[in-house]
Amino acid sequence: MTDKQRQSEVLIIGSGASGLSLALQLARQARVTVISKAALQEGATRYAQGGVSAVLHERDTFESHINDTLKTGCGLCDPEVVRFVVEEGRESIRWLIDLGVNFTRFPDADGQEFHLHQEGGHSHRRVLHAADSTGAAIESTLESQVRAHGNIDLLEFHTSLDLILKNGRCVGAYVYDQRAGRVRVFRSRFTVLATGGAGKVYLYTSNPDICTGDGIAMAWRAGCRIANMEFIQFHPTCLYHREAKSFLISEALRGEGAKLLLPDGARFMEKFDARAELAPRDVVARAIDHEIKRLGSDCLYLDISHRGKDFIMDHFPMIYARCRQYGFDLARQAVPIVPAAHYTCGGVVIDTHGRTDVDGLYAIGEVSCSGLHGANRMASNSLLECLVFAHAAYQDIRHHLDRATPLPSVPEWDESQVTDSDEEVVVSHNWDEIRRFMWDYVGIVRTNKRLQRARHRIRLLQEEIYDYYGNFRITNDLIELRNLAQVAELIIESALRRKESRGLHYSLDYPVSNRTASAHNTILQP
Ligand code: FAD
Ligand code: SIN
Repeated sequence: MTDKQRQSEVLIIGSGASGLSLALQLARQARVTVISKAALQEGATRYAQGGVSAVLHERDTFESHINDTLKTGCGLCDPEVVRFVVEEGRESIRWLIDLGVNFTRFPDADGQEFHLHQEGGHSHRRVLHAADSTGAAIESTLESQVRAHGNIDLLEFHTSLDLILKNGRCVGAYVYDQRAGRVRVFRSRFTVLATGGAGKVYLYTSNPDICTGDGIAMAWRAGCRIANMEFIQFHPTCLYHREAKSFLISEALRGEGAKLLLPDGARFMEKFDARAELAPRDVVARAIDHEIKRLGSDCLYLDISHRGKDFIMDHFPMIYARCRQYGFDLARQAVPIVPAAHYTCGGVVIDTHGRTDVDGLYAIGEVSCSGLHGANRMASNSLLECLVFAHAAYQDIRHHLDRATPLPSVPEWDESQVTDSDEEVVVSHNWDEIRRFMWDYVGIVRTNKRLQRARHRIRLLQEEIYDYYGNFRITNDLIELRNLAQVAELIIESALRRKESRGLHYSLDYPVSNRTASAHNTILQP
């Protein structure tokens, strides 16, 4: 091993809810390395608002949570996985509470211990939250525990660019150290992808910049199956303001009575679904998209002003403050909203231990496709999935730690054939082009023609990026661009294969669900 190589028992790529939860559990027994490509807290987890779903209310039941999840998933959830996550969820939540996450406790009318939000698709109040900054509360608690742990090495601003395979087994990853500007070998007995989703493949997204689908692209290149990538979830209510970067306005507002309005102030959701504002996200986002296009309007509106300032400040202090920053007062006016790409339902195919198709490689959290979400994720089931699968992967890995064989030697990253690029504009141009045509052609409403166009474009870009990647020295932007293009291609291919509309995939050429054939997943094999 040279000074360029690092070694650990478990390498966890990603420091969101899934990566840090797993690291903390494994560190009781093993030396763990966690890498993140930005600052440790920077990921979707930190921005989660509404909360974590769990059956905590005395009148709620596992069966009800399971049924709501299955219904929202439009026939594509794996019922065993749904039951597993819902039933295990309570223990994972208890673990978080014991770690010190400060969930909101002000009693509701039923005198429950925790205040629970209501969100789309849920037939009960079921969403545990820390006011409207649940993700930040979870991430900062996990971060402080992880930073204090002697058995965990944390490396920020380290971007994994490819997995290393030896005899069909994953034995680590090539990692770009952004500060040193060089690629190093990280060898490990077990490698875990906890890299989050791919929202940045779209022009408008609620996701932070790190969400470029790196884990999905790396797993694909390593030989893993990728499933259900056509199911990209668009969140119905992101603030429409040119500087707000699609700031999310939580569905929990609608759970507390916020109404969706047309520009003339009229409600419209009942026309689309009897559950109105609390219909699942695919229904609400499509309804908004339909009305925006019908009226030629830039946005629609969300109004919670009738709940009054005290209520809004108690329940949604962060959202209130951010809206004020952009000149909107939630207590006095309806705010302009548009849908934006929010969640990647598909991903790396895993089993209930988080194992992928490649020996020694796991995937947990948003990067994975576990079977929980089917064709549409129900609100607040994602953080739950992160926690439950982190625990499941821990259970599996810990049993294999003793029996693990020594690590093979791995060649250094070869940079001898590349030069510094003097054309970095190509990277930013391609990046913009992908995000724009994905938004225009592979968005909320799709057609064969638009998808074919997108496929044509992505193939041309892939060639250009491949060429560039082979000839110029690695940069973080180039790594992300290569992955973004790969993920865009997987989304387009999956969308083209689905000859029906189901859940989050809506095609004008096949506007109804296929009732004659049984529901199927879209599984792509490298
Ligand atoms: P993330 O938290 O996204 O973390 C990914 C990590 O991987 C980061 O540390 C990143 O640096 C690292 N990484 C990525 N690529 C690389 C690479 N190549 N090399 C090294 N490191 C890498 N879900 C809910 O259940 N409830 C909610 O209320 C909720 N609200 C949301 C609000 C917003 C605005 C957003 C964007 C999402 C929300 N979601 C919510 C979804 C949920 O937050 C995410 O699905 C979940 O947090 C994903 O966690 P994760 O651990 O899988 O990934
Ligand atoms: C929200 O608070 O609306 C986001 C919840 C989620 O994505 O699950």
